[in-house]
Amino acid sequence: MTGLIRPVDHPYEQLPFLFSSMTIDELWWGGAAMLARAGIAQPDNEAVWILESALGQDRLGLHLNKNERVEERDRNNAMALFERRASREPLQYVLGTQEFCGLDFRVTPDVLIPRPETELLVEVVRQTCANTSGALIADIGTGSGCIAIALARALPMAILYATDRSPQALAVAQENAKRHDVQDRVNFLVGDLFEPLQGLELQGRLVAIASNPPYIGEGDLAGLQPEVGLFEPRLALAGGNDGLFF
Ligand SMILES: C[S@@+](CC[C@H](N)C(=O)[O-])C[C@H]1O[C@@H](n2cnc3c(N)ncnc32)[C@H](O)[C@@H]1O
Repeated sequence: MTGLIRPVDHPYEQLPFLFSSMTIDELWWGGAAMLARAGIAQPDNEAVWILESALGQDRLGLHLNKNERVEERDRNNAMALFERRASREPLQYVLGTQEFCGLDFRVTPDVLIPRPETELLVEVVRQTCANTSGALIADIGTGSGCIAIALARALPMAILYATDRSPQALAVAQENAKRHDVQDRVNFLVGDLFEPLQGLELQGRLVAIASNPPYIGEGDLAGLQPEVGLFEPRLALAGGNDGLFF
């Protein structure tokens, strides 16, 4: 199903965004217009996803109830989310969630948004460790915890050691581990690279070491799309002069 009732012959730029008493349809229409003006590529879909989150209804519910008036509190909530997205904050931060390996991860501006291509890394490590019961695996630079947590879910006997220099990122990762019920098998450790693993007697015992390190070269940072360059953590992106510093 596409959109609600936006007339196709009305370009977004000509649409007013009304702030008083609005129906779901008017709020969708106005929100999509705001996103289109900000240069968002799929304003209609993103407006629906924002309304689903703000109003607690799925797309079908929004459609069926499109002529209902929106409570002031819900409207203000939706407006705040539209404004954040119109500032080019990534939709995943606005909604607070990103799916990875079939699991729903909480994401905040303290963590890199998990990328679909990183699922390939998880699959390679999973295959490498599949025949080792109780495999010990390290994830260096864990961010949201997506790699370590997806591996813990895929390998029910594995023990994971996940490090990050950012305590804020680790707090989000710990929350995600609880969400997916693997907090007992994923050890989160703050510090530089392998340094937090010292003293754990893991030398020669790790079956796999996974890492999706920062890899954007200094000269390329300024050219990143706003969603990445302005909002994702610099510590998760910047890989020194040539992107290979990590
Ligand atoms: C590209 S992000 C990857 C995050 C996550 N693993 C993923 O794939 O979505 C890199 C992560 O490495 C962390 N990091 C950067 N430098 C580090 C270092 N020297 N030691 C440990 N972690 C580091 C960053 O805080 C960030 O969370």
